[in-house]
Amino acid sequence: MSASLKSLVNPTSRRRLRSFQQRLLSLKESLIWGGKNREKALLWLTGRYYRSRYRREWELDPEEPHFFSQRIGFFEFGFGQERIGPYGFFRGFFGSEMLLPGDELLDIGCGDGFFTRRFFSERCTHVDAVDIEPSAIAAAQEYNSAANITYHLLDAVNEPFPKDQYDVVVWDGALGHFEQQTTSNVLKKIQSVLTPEGVFIGSESLGVEGSDHLQFFESLDDLNALFSPFFRHVELRSVTYKTGIGRGAFVRREAYWRCSNDAARLETCRWRDYGDRNSEPRGGSEAPRSKDQSAG
Ligand SMILES: C[S@@+](CC[C@H](N)C(=O)[O-])C[C@H]1O[C@@H](n2cnc3c(N)ncnc32)[C@H](O)[C@@H]1O
Repeated sequence: MSASLKSLVNPTSRRRLRSFQQRLLSLKESLIWGGKNREKALLWLTGRYYRSRYRREWELDPEEPHFFSQRIGFFEFGFGQERIGPYGFFRGFFGSEMLLPGDELLDIGCGDGFFTRRFFSERCTHVDAVDIEPSAIAAAQEYNSAANITYHLLDAVNEPFPKDQYDVVVWDGALGHFEQQTTSNVLKKIQSVLTPEGVFIGSESLGVEGSDHLQFFESLDDLNALFSPFFRHVELRSVTYKTGIGRGAFVRREAYWRCSNDAARLETCRWRDYGDRNSEPRGGSEAPRSKDQSAG
């Protein structure tokens, strides 16, 4: 409205006119982008698509994939009926809390790049993510690309890492996919590319899981025995949770680690205990944790 026209209209009429304009804009928004019913229909369709994709990849394909399309799980977490909980994403949360702004990160066996992009890339200056599987790199580039991520089709055992120095190396859900006799060589490579303050983080399921796993770890002690020759500080924990969808659901025990030769880096994400150690616990006794949620 021009300034001269504005001065002719009193404040009440101006407010009414503004409110009318806003109602018109809101109507235009809902006509173009839809209301709750359109959201419902689109979510239903997308949910059916992801269920079908899960069946095709995990039930109908004669060969199980080597990586999970995390967008299926994320849709189920956000909108599905399965109540899968956040546990399948803990590796991303536990890893991302170790990152410092400006880190250079290497992600070994990045799969579809979901964790690389959604959990790790935001804090980092640059991320190199490597996988031996062409379909993994193709999915990562299609769904999880970002300006500061370079995806490399690369065998982490037999080829050099893209750069010779990183602040963080991630090895999530992939250790079991490597042959036992190659593991110490890969750990040696990881140790050699980490800065003195660098941190090595990762996760792997405990017990027997996955038709394509080449080695298994029964307990956190097994993982400690594997990592401690390479790192002065090895921290481990585990979480047990239900994973998979529908008939494919099963219980997973997942181990998580963070290792470093510098205790200060591990300190950065430790919770501080502000309690008075000499006093009685406050507020009565703590409710016991269910076995399924317990840290190992
Ligand atoms: C279960 S997926 C984990 C994907 C991702 N890190 C995650 O947490 O969702 C394991 C990945 O390790 C990759 N992998 C196995 N052997 C490898 C090797 N020698 N070099 C690089 N990647 C490898 C597989 O192709 C697969 O994509």
